[in-house]
Amino acid sequence: MTSTVITGIGELTTNDDELGTLTDAALVIGGDRVVWAGPAARAPDADERFDAAGRAVLPGWVDSHTHLVFAGDRTAEFAARMAGKPYQAGGIAVTVEATRGATDEELAANLRTHIAEAVAQGTTCIETKTGYGLTVADELRSAKIAAEADEVTFLGAHLVPADEDANAYVDLVCGEMLDAVAPHVGWCDVFCETGAFDVDQSTRILEAAKERGLGLRVHGNQLAPGPGARLAVEMGAASVDHCTYLAESDVDALAGSETVATLLPACDLSTRQPLPDARALIDAGTTVALASNCNPGSSYTSSMAFCVTTAVLQMRMSIEEAVRAATWGGARALRRESGDGAVGVLRPGARADVHILDAPSTTWLAYRPGVPLTHAVWRRGNRIR
Ligand code: NIG
Repeated sequence: MTSTVITGIGELTTNDDELGTLTDAALVIGGDRVVWAGPAARAPDADERFDAAGRAVLPGWVDSHTHLVFAGDRTAEFAARMAGKPYQAGGIAVTVEATRGATDEELAANLRTHIAEAVAQGTTCIETKTGYGLTVADELRSAKIAAEADEVTFLGAHLVPADEDANAYVDLVCGEMLDAVAPHVGWCDVFCETGAFDVDQSTRILEAAKERGLGLRVHGNQLAPGPGARLAVEMGAASVDHCTYLAESDVDALAGSETVATLLPACDLSTRQPLPDARALIDAGTTVALASNCNPGSSYTSSMAFCVTTAVLQMRMSIEEAVRAATWGGARALRRESGDGAVGVLRPGARADVHILDAPSTTWLAYRPGVPLTHAVWRRGNRIR
């Protein structure tokens, strides 16, 4: 097992309660794990040495919400939106048609391209979803292809396919579709929103998924106030994602729960929605994650740095809160923030997912908006950039 010591760290963000954020620090990677982190003066020897030359080091981004098993693009829909048309969830059907028409190889290659794009920008743990297949066969192959990602979520309940009866489709999702897909995924998600699935349909699907041992997630409160966040809390979901339109009672429910509020600011900007009230959530004590929601319709970016920058400049999150939300928060939303091989943290035993910025501190992510700041990346102990 080769070990590498990263020396000369100007600022080390560990997200570990005891280690905290260190200046003049060092970090040692052994195999695919972090084996040591602390003050530079006490760093142990290692086989190899990497000089960070005063740069900031942090855990790789944990992108806990993407939709990367897809084909085609929706440039025209985006351009129409920028010209004043509203975002409609029905656009999903365009991607469903393109995805159904693509080969497994095309879908896998597209997924790999997008994961590589994300990793090159410092994302080292990535979740992705099915949801552009919407037949048993297309959801199953989407789930199998998605296995390239760290975490896979079944989103058969993304939209009722055109010309299908909603309740008959929910029956299919709860029965045959979940039976086929469940062995290939860790999570089940449902788009609980007017125009997608109502609260009763969403509850049925989440209960069916729970019976099969899957963890739960909810797309909620994206386009209007609604029951998604409360449903997520009631069902013990790991996260409710979007949270653009939350009532005070939703914020209170989330604050008293284990459900992470995952905010997707790139999506809100790309769909000309307001940005979520991160301050209200954080001040109430809710755990917040930031994710890209990379998909061809509502948020076609893999840049977690862009999400962090937006959170700081436009959502009144501090840089520390935003960086933590995009690392530890995402890990918590995937229930991977603790134990052996944890992600979103840099402590002995954590997965060696390390992001070095070409900057002396994480503050530069907001101070230098739009400037690519990724200098080096290790994923599972392998230097990939
Ligand atoms: O998270 N909200 C639903 N699903 C995606 C949208 C996907 C699409 O428009 O293709 C989202 O924004």
